[in-house]
Amino acid sequence: MVAKTSGRRLAKAVSRLAATLGLLAIGTMAAAQDQLVDPNTVRPSREAGRTANGLAPTPPMGWNSWNRYGCKINEQVIRAAADAMATNGMKGVGYRYVVIDDCWHGTRTADGFITADPVKFPSGIKALADYVHAKGLKFGIYSDAGRKTCGGKPGSQGHEYQDALTYARWGVDYLKYDWCSTGVRNAEEGYALMSDAIRASGREMVLSICEWGNNRPWEWAEKIGNLWRTTGDIRDAWKGPVTYSLGMMDIVDRNEPLYPYAGPGHWNDPDMLEVGNGGMTDTEYRTHFSLWAMMAAPLIAGNNLAEMNAATRAILLNHDVIAVDQDRLGRQGRRVRDDGDQEVWSRDLADGSRAVVLLNRGDAPAQIAVAWPEIGYTTGVPMQVRDLWTGAATREAAGRLSRTVMPHGVVMVRITPA
Ligand code: GLA
Repeated sequence: MVAKTSGRRLAKAVSRLAATLGLLAIGTMAAAQDQLVDPNTVRPSREAGRTANGLAPTPPMGWNSWNRYGCKINEQVIRAAADAMATNGMKGVGYRYVVIDDCWHGTRTADGFITADPVKFPSGIKALADYVHAKGLKFGIYSDAGRKTCGGKPGSQGHEYQDALTYARWGVDYLKYDWCSTGVRNAEEGYALMSDAIRASGREMVLSICEWGNNRPWEWAEKIGNLWRTTGDIRDAWKGPVTYSLGMMDIVDRNEPLYPYAGPGHWNDPDMLEVGNGGMTDTEYRTHFSLWAMMAAPLIAGNNLAEMNAATRAILLNHDVIAVDQDRLGRQGRRVRDDGDQEVWSRDLADGSRAVVLLNRGDAPAQIAVAWPEIGYTTGVPMQVRDLWTGAATREAAGRLSRTVMPHGVVMVRITPA
């Protein structure tokens, strides 16, 4: 009886063990199959061995063709932008990259190399890059992680190493890499692959990740690229989404909460500037530029640089506001008070001072005040306050600052303990 029972028990145990082993085997096979069919389970940025490329210690500054020209580009347009940037003061205040966006492409050669559109760019991209470099500027180009770019041109999927090599041969310093036609592709894998391809090309290139924030790149791209779009495309309007595009203030509200993720070498990108394109007032453009500086955003102008009016020029060339954007501490500013239409923003700067924006979203002038404790100072300290748009300097000893702010406008100041 005893022997019988223990024999049955043994048989049961063996069959349980066999079942477990069977399940394990099936599990292992499934896992192996998963790996075979889905290489996208790789988490490249978290590999201990991955290192950042060391570029963009402060947010990149430059110009890009898209916001003003869309697909209507050619080598004259790009050269004119480089000419203007080199001579109108922009280069002096830090603008560097001249970037061709979508639609420069021709076809691929029989062995897969990408070529430029021979009608739009008859001299070729290498000659254009040489032209830009000769002006002491840097040169950028655009591609896409899918089969096609958003403009329907050949994308880099399946040609990553080949394209990176071509860009290196042309003298490219900056790649904006878009996310159209990517299907179910894993974003982290797609961008890590191009990042590795650039590294293998032997040429340093800033990598601008443009997947619109769909896959939360701020959580994985720190060692893959240097800036990542956080939203859909900007449109030249104060507010209001239209299909895939967002008004300037809609973008601000999506980008602001991501402040903990930005830092030297890796920036939140709320998209390129619309300053000077005509859809907003100069007051609104000053707000746009001020908030981009507060958010440590890349400052990529998107207007016709050769035909800027004085107001546009004064905005894009405001070196005090640019100094906030480019502050070497690299800490993104944030909203410290939200009273509905009236807000206070603060950004810590490397010298211990603060950049502060009083923002009025409303349609009537408003009085907005900030008390020192809201920006991390004690009340008793007297402060030097410099208005970054008017240049006015005052000393404030009352532990707070109060200003009238125009509708859709800002007062932007730098506050330093006196
Ligand atoms: C996407 C990007 C834009 C621009 C276009 C080009 O929409 O987000 O910035 O590059 O593609 O087609």
